[in-house]
Amino acid sequence: MRYRKLGRTNFEVSDIGYGAWGIGGKQWLGGQDDESLQALRRAIDLGVNFIDTALAYGDGHSEQLIGQVVRETGHKIYVATKVPPKNRIWPAVSGTPIAEVFPYDYILSCAEESLRNLGLETIDLLQLHVWTDDWVDRDEWKRALEDLRRSGKVQTVGVSASDHDPDSALQVMATGLIDAVQVIYNIFDQTPETKMFPLALERNIGILARVPLDEGALSGHFTEDIAFPAGDFREWYFRGDRKRQVVQHVDALRRDLDGNASIPDVALRFCLSHPAVSTVIPGMRTRRHVESNTALSDVGALAQETLSVLKRHAWDRNFYS
Ligand SMILES: NC(=O)c1ccc[n+]([C@@H]2O[C@H](COP(=O)([O-])OP(=O)(O)OC[C@H]3O[C@@H](n4cnc5c(N)ncnc54)[C@H](OP(=O)(O)O)[C@@H]3O)[C@@H](O)[C@H]2O)c1
Repeated sequence: MRYRKLGRTNFEVSDIGYGAWGIGGKQWLGGQDDESLQALRRAIDLGVNFIDTALAYGDGHSEQLIGQVVRETGHKIYVATKVPPKNRIWPAVSGTPIAEVFPYDYILSCAEESLRNLGLETIDLLQLHVWTDDWVDRDEWKRALEDLRRSGKVQTVGVSASDHDPDSALQVMATGLIDAVQVIYNIFDQTPETKMFPLALERNIGILARVPLDEGALSGHFTEDIAFPAGDFREWYFRGDRKRQVVQHVDALRRDLDGNASIPDVALRFCLSHPAVSTVIPGMRTRRHVESNTALSDVGALAQETLSVLKRHAWDRNFYS
């Protein structure tokens, strides 16, 4: 496993991190806690030391599973979690008063709840789960995050940028008040390369590359007939004729790549290839996925010719809306 510095922090994080939305259940169905715990433990055995979760993932269930595993291991594991929007609206809607989303007391009480779920003394990275630069000059979030940091309950802070809209977090990055940003970055959405990544490098802000497999579209086994459990988030995300669109785009990608290329391997190595990325956080619920994904860290970046091919496969769309 290789490690990268998380921006200006002193955290040396595994470049393959652990995305822990799926293990929360509720929105990702079909998983089993036993299997998730085994996957988490295997990831730590293989050198993963960065886990991204959120209070909202299974209403604290993801945090509880992570806390159990982190408390039992002798290794330092960096845990990143998130404060959900008080109005429960994802992503942030421009023009919404911050009082409806992140009032001061609410941020503090969510951090306390996450600490109880995790059973830990401190949160290594606390992120606001939604963000709009409308709030950049507001005082509430700054005071809350600063007070949490000063009390030692939180070590570093960040925000999660809106789906397919990395530019919505450029102003907060420029304030120098945050340590990390998480953003959708994958073969289909390469937009963070234009403005966000250069700014992150200039300001030394950590980048968490989220949704690297486009919620499974880049898993390598996506078909037009793929079925998800009733009520699973992916049933909604891939609704209508979206499965057909995905298959067309992935087929085009396969044709352009070496015939034997593994799509998830190329997708994760694509993220590892950008120097602004501190860690890529694929969602994983099984040991099998943990083992194949962590093995890519040592393989590392893609060749420049392959990256040039992948440039042609950027796909401008938003399945979250
Ligand atoms: N707003 C936000 O802040 C936000 C939003 C979305 C995600 N996130 C974060 O980003 C993380 C990653 O995103 P995600 O989990 O939504 O989606 P993702 O990482 O793009 O895709 C996850 C899917 O890929 C599958 N997978 C993983 N490794 C694989 C492999 N080697 N081969 C084939 N399939 C593989 C997983 O299967 P299994 O689950 O069966 O292992 C799961 O179905 C989340 O877990 C969360 O931490 C944050």
